[in-house]
Amino acid sequence: MKHLAIIPGDGIGKEVIDAGTAVLDAVCEISSFDYDGELFDIGSDRYLRTGELLTEEDIADLRKKDAIYFGAIGDPKVKPGILEQGILLKMRAVFDQYINLRPVTSWFPLVPLKREVPFDIRFLRENTEDFYMGAGGTFSGSRKDARVKVKREMYELEIDLRTNSSNNDDFAFEIGLLSKKGITRFADYAFNYAMARGEKKVTLVDKANVCTHVYGMQRAIFEEKSKEYGIGLEFMYVDAMAMAMIVRPETFGTVAVPNLFGDILTDLGAQLQGGLGMGGSGNINPKGVSMFEPIHGSAPDIAGQKKANPMAAVLAAQMLLENLGYPEEGKMLQRSVRYCLDNMLTTPDLGGKLTTDEVGKAICDFILGQKK
Ligand code: NAD
Ligand code: IPM
Ligand code: MN
Repeated sequence: MKHLAIIPGDGIGKEVIDAGTAVLDAVCEISSFDYDGELFDIGSDRYLRTGELLTEEDIADLRKKDAIYFGAIGDPKVKPGILEQGILLKMRAVFDQYINLRPVTSWFPLVPLKREVPFDIRFLRENTEDFYMGAGGTFSGSRKDARVKVKREMYELEIDLRTNSSNNDDFAFEIGLLSKKGITRFADYAFNYAMARGEKKVTLVDKANVCTHVYGMQRAIFEEKSKEYGIGLEFMYVDAMAMAMIVRPETFGTVAVPNLFGDILTDLGAQLQGGLGMGGSGNINPKGVSMFEPIHGSAPDIAGQKKANPMAAVLAAQMLLENLGYPEEGKMLQRSVRYCLDNMLTTPDLGGKLTTDEVGKAICDFILGQKK
């Protein structure tokens, strides 16, 4: 019996997680997988009611779980950044989920490209450092506030910008930070991942021609690891990578990408799969509590209309099952999505006429039909 935390969150997060948990229930019916799900009221509703984001109590309760199944957060009523940093990014940091696995697979005929060459890119987005530390601030003349504290599982530090800044009046800053420890475990994960998939190279995406300090250090460590593992290493600048994903996606396998660029490239990757409703993701701590979620947000423009595509949430559930040691059950979810696409059992974003729940039910029916 696996113990799952279920956090639907906001907007369409609730709708797709409803469908996703029904799908997990169907998997229980026909396989040895079994779970109990505890629902957590974490998101904008509670924040607006009580002012709470992710509390110490939440963290203690979540830490006891085998995995977290998460919908989305974000609410137009709340200033941008509060829920995102206070809930989602905090969970990724607190549980040290340092790998964000985001597959980009071709689901013909949804691929909006002219050439029909199958591809299967595995984005490994570093998920705890870079420009996502919340390490920033604003200051003026006296620069007395030009100080930030950074806290991660691996280290805690205080940065004082005063020694480095000129005497201008007004500043805002955001620090992109990488650590040797953080890069090293990221590189190890990437080369092991490529090796397990029988691939000959890892692609490292960066902007080492501009942000020379952080990405220069990252390149050096990846180069060492490439030699250690005997697996090739290819560097791509992020701008060129955006283009290459469109013209030759089939030439990439395991792609390691720092946090901010990874966020951007994987929305592009979702579109290569048919849209944001097709992108699943896993926030992975190989030794701790991992969290599985669609890559899309709360989609306020369609929330409450039953139009949200639940497939991204189902593909996130696939990763959850694989991570908990149920690879066959995971593959079944992949096949259930394929079945729905082939039969046009889809929401309007993919040209179909079904609601979120109806697609969820079609997926459940497919799974229940697999009973031996
Ligand atoms: P979004 O991903 O919510 O939506 C972007 C567009 O894609 C919208 O037009 C939306 O209708 C569409 N879309 C997204 N998911 C869909 C689905 N499953 N089916 C059909 N269409 C879908 O991004 P946004 O509009 O930029 O952000 C909205 C809020 O969500 C913001 O508050 C943002 O910070 C937050 N956000 C949260 C997460 C997360 O929780 N992981 C991810 C991204 C954005
Ligand atoms: C995602 C989202 C988050 C991110 C936001 C909501 C903090 O865009 O999961 O891709 O930038 O990682
Ligand atoms: Mn994103």
